[in-house]
Amino acid sequence: MYTRRDAFKKMAVAAGTFAAASSAIAAVTDACFSARTPPQSEGPFYPVNDQLDKDTDLTQVTGGLGKAKGQMIFVTGTILDQNCRPIKGARIEIWQACESGRYNHPNDESGLPLDRNFQYWGIAHTGTDGKYIFKTIKPGSYPAGSGWIRPPHIHYKVSALGFHELTTQLYFSGDPLNDKDLILKALPSADQKKVVVPLSPAGPEFNPNSLLGDFSITLQRVV
Ligand SMILES: [Fe+2]
Repeated sequence: MYTRRDAFKKMAVAAGTFAAASSAIAAVTDACFSARTPPQSEGPFYPVNDQLDKDTDLTQVTGGLGKAKGQMIFVTGTILDQNCRPIKGARIEIWQACESGRYNHPNDESGLPLDRNFQYWGIAHTGTDGKYIFKTIKPGSYPAGSGWIRPPHIHYKVSALGFHELTTQLYFSGDPLNDKDLILKALPSADQKKVVVPLSPAGPEFNPNSLLGDFSITLQRVV
């Protein structure tokens, strides 16, 4: 016999289910909203010279015989909107120093050695899954003046139709220079966590001894 008490129970379950679903949706929305990747300075070394080879493998230059010096890494991730949906057709540019800490840029007067086998910048585009991947090396640190040493980092510029362009930088977990970096430390602590990426062994499908880091990026839609 179906009682009034059963009816209340059913309503309570339904309400609970709805509340759980609502809070789950809110959590996802909040996660995406709060996950918006913070912008950071472009810095003085944005590429100014075109290069023939601008693909996603920075560890060698097309036509060259050598391999770039340094620890090989793969940086990968998904370009997302604020509702956690992948963005198709996003353009991701990265530029960075070579293993010695030198940029291939006229503004870099550090005197650190260039690596002629390193492709200092590259461009990727996302497909329907929003994913990108670059094969590169872990960049060196370099002096930025007045005793300030920039920790290893990779510069990113990400653009997609209908979204604000984002310029930011990726750092690596555990580097002692991170805690003293004036650019990274200028971010609120919650935002710092979004741009510091752990590296772990890349696995058998990648080059031996290479490392892998996941840097997914959330863009802000133009409204
Ligand atoms: Fe830099």
